[in-house]
Amino acid sequence: MSIDKKHINKVNDLASLRENKLKNADFKKLSEFIHRNYGIYLSDKKYYLLQNRLVKRLRELGMDNFSEYTQFVLNRQEGKDEVLEMVDAITTNKTDFFREKQHFDFFSEILKKEFVGSTVKVWSAGCSTGQEAYSLCMILEESRQQNGIADYMVYGNDISYKVLETAKKGIYPYKLYSQIPVEFRKKYLLKSKNQNNPKIRIVPELRNKTYFFWMNLAQDNYPLQINFQFIFCRNTLIYFDRKLQQKIITLLSSFLVSGGYLFIGHSESLINLNTDGLRFIKPTIYQKI
Ligand SMILES: C[S@@+](CC[C@H](N)C(=O)[O-])C[C@H]1O[C@@H](n2cnc3c(N)ncnc32)[C@H](O)[C@@H]1O
Repeated sequence: MSIDKKHINKVNDLASLRENKLKNADFKKLSEFIHRNYGIYLSDKKYYLLQNRLVKRLRELGMDNFSEYTQFVLNRQEGKDEVLEMVDAITTNKTDFFREKQHFDFFSEILKKEFVGSTVKVWSAGCSTGQEAYSLCMILEESRQQNGIADYMVYGNDISYKVLETAKKGIYPYKLYSQIPVEFRKKYLLKSKNQNNPKIRIVPELRNKTYFFWMNLAQDNYPLQINFQFIFCRNTLIYFDRKLQQKIITLLSSFLVSGGYLFIGHSESLINLNTDGLRFIKPTIYQKI
């Protein structure tokens, strides 16, 4: 078959899958399942988003209707692996290097004031493709080289395997280069020679200071044996309802050392949540008492 014909068939397949709509009842079953297990709330407005993102999964599985897919994915045994593919397809992974720069400035200052000589462990909870973790690494590495902190390690978790793969590789499109402060570019980035598809890569010295792992923040407990000096949980809580936000904040706080800091995103708030054991430092920054 010619490439053109293959392409036309593929487009027709996708079009017919789209015509074959996700029934409301199936949307409800899937969105309730996602909400219950992963905390992500898909309002009725997200109907088309779910349908469009799942079309590709149906095609890859050779299924021709959404009801068959719904039954399959919700089947505890058969659908176990597909659930993770579905979660991958519906997560919103937007992130940047040095996103919300004030947090990184504050972080850098606090390292100088309070953590000289310490080994610092940081958790990027909901790390997406790793830009947050590597931004933290650059600041930590600067501090280490200037006889600030003694050593460091940055951990990152997410529920999307795809984003974790990217985070582990530390390879990004060249267009992200400008997000990184000029003084860090030469030190911490490698540039690919391929002119057609230019990339940047985080240097191995920083990649070796990271550990990315799959973990669902909505689960009832976190099987970690680590205490952190800093936890960044930014632009992730926003997808959860207040009850789950409370559970996550309580759990995350329990992994902070006394005097450790918790950062949330600038559009998020802990107002009306029980923050016992946390002291408010400034909007979006808290310290464990
Ligand atoms: C918008 S990104 C934020 C990335 C980064 N923290 C930042 O501020 O740039 C949110 C990430 O949270 C992840 N996420 C959503 N629900 C999650 C859950 N239940 N457990 C762990 N990660 C989750 C998503 O897959 C996504 O990569």
